[in-house]
Amino acid sequence: MERIVISGPSKLYGSVKISGMKNAAVAVIFGTIAVNDECIIDNLPNISDVNLSLELLKNMGAVVEKLGETKYRIDTRHISTIMAPVEEAGKMRASYYIAGASLARFGVCKVGLPGGCDFGERPIDQHVKAFEAMGAKVRIDEGYIDASAVGGMKAANIYFDCVTVGGTINAILAAVRSDGVTVIDNAAREPHIVDLANFLNFCGADITGAGTDTIKIKGNKQLHGCEYTIIPDMIEAGTFIIAAAATSSRVLIENIIPKHLESMTSKLSETGIVFEEGDDTLLVKSNVSELRPVNIKTLPYPGFPTDMNPQTAVLLCSISGVSRINETIFSDRFRYVNELRRMGASIDIENSIATFNGGQRLKAANVRAVDLRAGAAMVLAGLVAEGTTSIEDIFYIERGYDNIVEKLSSLGAAIKKISIEDFT
Ligand code: EPU
Repeated sequence: MERIVISGPSKLYGSVKISGMKNAAVAVIFGTIAVNDECIIDNLPNISDVNLSLELLKNMGAVVEKLGETKYRIDTRHISTIMAPVEEAGKMRASYYIAGASLARFGVCKVGLPGGCDFGERPIDQHVKAFEAMGAKVRIDEGYIDASAVGGMKAANIYFDCVTVGGTINAILAAVRSDGVTVIDNAAREPHIVDLANFLNFCGADITGAGTDTIKIKGNKQLHGCEYTIIPDMIEAGTFIIAAAATSSRVLIENIIPKHLESMTSKLSETGIVFEEGDDTLLVKSNVSELRPVNIKTLPYPGFPTDMNPQTAVLLCSISGVSRINETIFSDRFRYVNELRRMGASIDIENSIATFNGGQRLKAANVRAVDLRAGAAMVLAGLVAEGTTSIEDIFYIERGYDNIVEKLSSLGAAIKKISIEDFT
C-alpha cells in the first residue's frame, strides 16, 4: 500500500506536458475489437485504466505489444472469446465498450457489468436501448450484459433520453459494421467521442457529425487497421490549471488542444486567473489573493466538466468570498467534501449545490482519495495546505493520472509517493 505525501504550501514554476486522454484511450482500445485487424495506437497514458483495458483485450485473445513509451500494437484478429468476466470488467467503467464493439463484430457479447467511480447510481439503460434499437436482445443477468443480435446489428435511429458519453460511444461502436445508416440524436459532444470517431474513420468507417448532437454512422464491414495518436487529456490539463491557480503560480501547460480547455478556461477566467493561449500550450498566471468568487454549474461538453468539480472545489476554498458548484450530471459527486472539511474547508451542501465559504488557508491532514478526481483534489489541497498532507487509497488517482507525482515534483512541489511501512 502506498500513499502520496505533500509538504505545503507549494509554489509551482515551469512547464508540464499533458499525457493522452484516459477516456479517449479506453474507447479506442476497446474499439479495436470492432476493427478486427492490427492497429498501432500512440500517446496512450501510463495509467492503470489503460493497463487494465489492455489486459482485458489480451485475455480475450488479442495480441498486445508495447512498441515505445506510449505506443502499442494491438492485433484483435484472433480474439477467441466474447466473454469479459465480471471480476475484471467490474474494475472500471469503460469495460462496457467491449459490449458495443463485440456486438458490432460478432453479433454477441457477454460482459461483466462495469464498475468505475461511485457517484451514486450510474444506470446503463440508454446503452441497452441503443443495442435493442439495433436489433439485439439484451439481458442484464447475474452481473452480466448478455446480448445477441441474430444476423448482426442493424442500422437504427437512436434518441438518447439524457446526454450520455458512454452510451454515445457504445452506440457508435455497435453501429460501425451494420448495414445502413444509424443516426444518433441528442448525442454527447465530448472531444473523446470525436477522437473515437476519427480513429474508426481512419480504419475505414464512415462517421459524420461527431462533436455535434447528431451523429451519423454508415456501417462498413470492411474495416482495416491504422496508426492513431490519442488526443491530450483535457481533464489532466484542467487539474494542472487549478494546481497553478490555487498556488498563485505561473505554469506553462504543454501538449494540449486549447479549444478543448475553453469549457473550463472561459468560466475560470471570471475569477481573474490569466490564461495566455499558444498553438498547443496554455500559460496560467494567478494570484489567489486577488481572485474573485464564482458560481459554476457542471454540464455536458462544452459546459464545465463534472470531472473538474472536485479539483475546482480546492480553488474555491482558497478564494475569499462565497462560491458555488451546482453538480447536474451525477447525484453523489460531493463525496470529497468530507475530506476537504478535515483540512479546515468550510463547505455546505444542499441538494446538488455546494457552497464554499473561501479564503482561509487549508490545513494539512491525513485524507483519502474517495474516487479518481476526488483524489486529484486531495493532491491539490495538499499543495495549498500548510504542513504535511498524507493521502491514502492513491490507486484511485493512478487509474487516471500519468505520473502526477513526478510531474508536480518537476514543477517544484515537495511531493512523494511512499509505502505505508515507510510512513512515520
Ligand atoms: N445515464 C443514464 N443512463 C445511461 C447512461 C448514463 O441515466 O444509460 C446518466 C448518468 O447516470 C449520468 C449522466 O447520464 O447522470 C451522464 O453519464 P455518462 O453516461 O455521460 O457518463 P459515463 O459514460 O459513465 C463518462 C466518463 C466519466 C465522466 C462522465 C461525464 C468515461 C470512461 N467516463 O462516464 O469520467 O464523468 O462521462 O462526463 O468516459 C473520470 O474520468 O473521472 C470519469 C468519471
